[in-house]
Amino acid sequence: MSLGEVEKKVLEKIKPRREEYELLMNAYRRIEAIIYKILNKHGIEAEVTLQGSVAHDTWLSGERDLDVFVLFPKEWSIEDLRNKGFSILLEAAEEIGNYNIRYAEHPYVRVILDSVQADLVPAFKIDSPREIRTAVDRTPFHTQYVNEHLNEELRDHVRLFKRFLKGLGIYGAEVRVRGFSGYLSELLIIKYGSFPKIISEASKWKAPVFIDTVGNTRIFKVLRRKYPESIMYVPDPVDPLRNVAAAVSLYSLATLVIASNCYRVNPCIEYYYPSLGSLDIDFSFIDGRCLVLVTVESDEFSRLPPDVLWGELHRVTDRAVKLAERFGFSVVDWSDWTDEGRIAVIGLEVDECSKEYPKLYQGPPYYSSKRVLDFISKHVFRGSIGPWIRRDGLLLALGPRKYVSIRDLLIDRSWEYMVAPHFRGLTPRVYVLGEDPLDILDLMDKDWVVGFVFKRRDWINCCIK
Ligand code: UTP
Ligand code: MN
Repeated sequence: MSLGEVEKKVLEKIKPRREEYELLMNAYRRIEAIIYKILNKHGIEAEVTLQGSVAHDTWLSGERDLDVFVLFPKEWSIEDLRNKGFSILLEAAEEIGNYNIRYAEHPYVRVILDSVQADLVPAFKIDSPREIRTAVDRTPFHTQYVNEHLNEELRDHVRLFKRFLKGLGIYGAEVRVRGFSGYLSELLIIKYGSFPKIISEASKWKAPVFIDTVGNTRIFKVLRRKYPESIMYVPDPVDPLRNVAAAVSLYSLATLVIASNCYRVNPCIEYYYPSLGSLDIDFSFIDGRCLVLVTVESDEFSRLPPDVLWGELHRVTDRAVKLAERFGFSVVDWSDWTDEGRIAVIGLEVDECSKEYPKLYQGPPYYSSKRVLDFISKHVFRGSIGPWIRRDGLLLALGPRKYVSIRDLLIDRSWEYMVAPHFRGLTPRVYVLGEDPLDILDLMDKDWVVGFVFKRRDWINCCIK
């Protein structure tokens, strides 16, 4: 399928030019030389390789991140890789430039060299995907597979699709996003042959989505059992029992499906480049609504791998939603955010910040004589309104609420939702938008706040017939 005007315009912006390739390759060559030097010094035989989107030539202009995998002998133990392998990379990083240590399944090093960022990852040098021992051992096989299946034109389609997903906020498999990874984007382009074709296919998706990348549909039964929670199933061609789409959330899938339908009606640039939110808009938007920010602070947050922190935060948010519902607040929306440093925020929107109306208690059915009597005595003693038998035969009473205010509930019962290891025991602050001073907003991501308050994404404005 040929590309439209909008797509050509986007491609113009995201396709890297020669100088940018050279910048990246120069950085890579310097890094490569330094790592080999350190390897020699220690008499270790290993191979330095370039992986990921730069090796696939599917990276986007301006996003200069190198995935450098150092492949150590497969005879090494996993411990060797984590200790010996890692310390070699650390030593190299010290010579290369600014660096920091990161954690995924095992530690790696991120170095900054001029305007280029490089992740130095230790992995095993294996001959076949059957020998995979750590998650990163698959990566070189991905690179081989992708390079065997993509041509220059398809690479541009990958770039477009990645930019589209980024604009929608659903690019990346990390827990923060729970969206579509770079490799998944590449597999989908390989499968469907073009960006427009993916859009037209995705517009019809409904979970669970199965994409056959290996020419064997029997694999889905196995994947379904292995990943019962997944929304989407895409077997990894280099290791078919792994689901490349395991991280995709229902939110990400639904966003892609709806956006694809909208895009087909009216493609516009806002999908790829949403304009940044501004908080200087007039606050009449929050009139009559109840938007609450629950914040906690901890020095521990900066020491956690982002996936762990976001995973815990999502769980805490989930529990706060359930708590609010359980005490009679109707939760309209929720979202969470952290700077991955010291602050974490739960956003809750509920129907009313203050529930003045008493709570309606529904009694047992009229024919459960024993329970009916208990219900009546309890409410008479309590001083409830009623109990009474309504015209439809239900036994009811109106009694006081334990919590009239969402603020009191969230402060008083914080132990009920601060349930993740690094949140337990923290004391939250509760801010009600429009009531409390909002200096807290200065510490937060404006796009997140704007998204939470105004809700309508830029591209929704293009979604009109
Ligand atoms: P990256 O996350 O850097 O992705 O992982 P990418 O393909 O280079 O895309 P961008 O442009 O940086 O966003 C590098 C490689 O690590 C493997 C894949 O092989 C990927 O190409 N990987 C990464 C996975 O297998 N699974 C993941 O969840 C992430
Ligand atoms: Mn990368």
